[in-house]
Amino acid sequence: MASALPIKTLDKSGNEITSVGFKRFGFDSEVKIDILRSLYLRPHYAVSTLKSADIDDEAQETTHHAVFTQGHSAYQSKSIFHPDTNSISYTTLSRFPPVTLLPPSARKRILVTGGAGFVGSHLVDRLMLLGHEVTVIDNFFTGSKTTVSHWVGHPNFELVRHDVVEPFMIECDQIYHLACPASPPHYQFNAVKTIKTSFMGTLNMLGLAKRTKARFLISSTSEVYGDPEVHPQNEEYWGHVNPIGPRACYDEGKRVAETLTYGFQRQDGVNVRVARIFNTYGPRMNPYDGRVVSNFIVQALKGEDMTVYGDGKQTRSFQYIHDLIDGLIALMNSDESRPVNIGNGDEFTIGEFAELVRDVVEKVQDEDGDKRSRRVDIVYKPIPTDDPQKRRPDTTRAKETLDWQPKWTVRMGLEEMVRYYKAKMAEGSL
Ligand SMILES: NC(=O)c1ccc[n+]([C@@H]2O[C@H](COP(=O)([O-])OP(=O)(O)OC[C@H]3O[C@@H](n4cnc5c(N)ncnc54)[C@H](O)[C@@H]3O)[C@@H](O)[C@H]2O)c1
Repeated sequence: MASALPIKTLDKSGNEITSVGFKRFGFDSEVKIDILRSLYLRPHYAVSTLKSADIDDEAQETTHHAVFTQGHSAYQSKSIFHPDTNSISYTTLSRFPPVTLLPPSARKRILVTGGAGFVGSHLVDRLMLLGHEVTVIDNFFTGSKTTVSHWVGHPNFELVRHDVVEPFMIECDQIYHLACPASPPHYQFNAVKTIKTSFMGTLNMLGLAKRTKARFLISSTSEVYGDPEVHPQNEEYWGHVNPIGPRACYDEGKRVAETLTYGFQRQDGVNVRVARIFNTYGPRMNPYDGRVVSNFIVQALKGEDMTVYGDGKQTRSFQYIHDLIDGLIALMNSDESRPVNIGNGDEFTIGEFAELVRDVVEKVQDEDGDKRSRRVDIVYKPIPTDDPQKRRPDTTRAKETLDWQPKWTVRMGLEEMVRYYKAKMAEGSL
């Protein structure tokens, strides 16, 4: 068992991170990091019936929770995993985490499409804790109910199974349109469906925004820049995309979704926001979707060799999920209707990044007193088609218009994510 010391996280300037978010444009997005962590660092089924005999149940559970969430275990479901029969007894939450009591004038009705996915669920946690009314629509193609199940039953929360390719009617003030599979194996699984989701889903949500006069934000992507010829990429760059390659269903889907978004702005006066999101990582990322961060962590934790595709010289930048959520909320509530890059500019070669992940995994294992049989190796394999060689955001616009910049170092974010995956491995679900 890990030591019971709380996790101390330092930001890029060396100051301790105790909260995420900030107040911008009259909208508060600040919440305590410990309460947020209590929602993701201990998955609801992590309490195992395999316990050491000398500690009573309550004490053991409290100690283990305290390591990660500093005593907020009351806000976590007490579902129990039975390793002997590989089964789980679900329970609902005993108490919801406290949400801010907003006056009706400040409380917004917010629709989050794709809210059961990786990014969506963190956005939902934040908006809920801030006291807003949140409706999630999701078809659960890549998302899972478990990512938001801790809010089910809360009077401010609604979860609807719905495919955005079909119209959806609701009264709302803001729409965060995130629904779209985001990792290559998922968006290539059914390329035609991915394009339909990008185009028809966006069309339906823009139609809803037009009718309700809701503000509309779309999660676009750095993939709209394709394999770029300029570095870093700013929002004025038009991109270099292969329209017929295996990634085109996603890249061109997002490009046409942006076109549609600005069409509704010009023709119908819809109030739009476009976030071009760069590589983001964090807890709740699907460990098996082929993204480089989760691949490396899972391989290193399992003691397997870490696979780098290509010669490892291609570069990537990685932003931690809380920075992205800060940026999305700031953008939604700002007056900036041009596209805005949201990403972390710290650039790594994939080879360097593999080494960083290996170091972080070893650090967490050492802190937890885990035994390693050997140091994992980093092995190189051929690169997949169309994999961009280099991509890095120019986030000047986000800094100037949103007063936003990433706070989390890649290493700090990795430490949280390693702890999250470790907990999942311990309970047998990874
Ligand atoms: N994670 C990143 O690094 C990243 C980078 C750039 C852009 N984005 C964008 O952010 C958004 C969220 O990405 P994510 O990483 O959370 O991916 P994710 O796959 O975890 O989440 C996507 C969610 O959308 C849902 N969904 C998919 N198709 C749907 C449909 N037709 N109807 C309703 N729901 C549907 C999925 O079930 C899932 O819950 C996506 O639009 C993605 O393109 C993410």
